[in-house]
Amino acid sequence: MATVPLVQVQGLAIRAGGVAGGPVVQRGLDFDVERGEVLVIVGASGSGKSTLLRHMVGLDTPHAGRVLYDGHDLHHGAQDTLAALRRRFGVMFQAGALWSSMTLGENLMLSMRLFTSLPAAQRERRARFKLALVGLDGGFDLMPAQLSGGMRKRAALARALALDPELLYLDEPGSGLDPLNAARLDELVLNLRQHLGTTVVMVTHEISSIFAVATRALYLDEQAQTMTALGPPDQLLQHGPPAVREFLRRGVPP
Ligand SMILES: Nc1ncnc2c1ncn2[C@@H]1O[C@H](COP(=O)(O)OP(=O)(O)OP(=O)(O)O)[C@@H](O)[C@H]1O
Ligand SMILES: [Mg+2]
Repeated sequence: MATVPLVQVQGLAIRAGGVAGGPVVQRGLDFDVERGEVLVIVGASGSGKSTLLRHMVGLDTPHAGRVLYDGHDLHHGAQDTLAALRRRFGVMFQAGALWSSMTLGENLMLSMRLFTSLPAAQRERRARFKLALVGLDGGFDLMPAQLSGGMRKRAALARALALDPELLYLDEPGSGLDPLNAARLDELVLNLRQHLGTTVVMVTHEISSIFAVATRALYLDEQAQTMTALGPPDQLLQHGPPAVREFLRRGVPP
């Protein structure tokens, strides 16, 4: 028997803001997320990438269709089953919001305190380790307001990693980072995948990052209001629809 994909998105239609009455921004979305892959979601600004992520983590309810995890419907199940499902993913939103009244260390340790039985010393060790992973060694006692935008972004990423999620959702993690830190971020994503088997679903505008990390890219077309391409970026660059080839070509050196 073939194994069930980690995530199955079936016939999904999504509304702006996830609210009833909002305009449908994408429909007919059908794709799987395979275990251990890095699926990158691309498309023009406003095409619905963040909205799609919000539906995939269960914050918004589909207008039509469904999202399955190991075959379980994310939006229609017992509350405790859903809570258990959600605990398996780490999420970093586009705004990368941190709790402003807590230090970085406290930001990272909050979910550990809520969702694990790790003793305090281990929570701290783990939080320091995650901060070091994103290049914020020594940031443990800093307040979010003391950080630059890029540092805040990396701290939010560290927080998404706090519970060692098997599935990581990242919404434009590289925007606002300098080239060195953007390259480090790509490396981190590849390392997570290679060493921990983490599955990653990531929205990005950085074309170089797509070619560096993506197993497959999913293209959301704003005009067609649906996905118009799904495949390895190299293949899409060669054989994808014209709009997708053009989008990807911008990032390829002449
Ligand atoms: N909370 C909201 N309420 C109403 N409309 C919203 C809300 N959030 C997003 N939208 C609308 O939904 C559409 C898709 O927005 P979304 O944020 O998903 O785009 P995106 O592809 O992530 O864009 P970007 O690349 O700029 O981040 C846009 O037209 C946007 O104006
Ligand atoms: Mg967005």
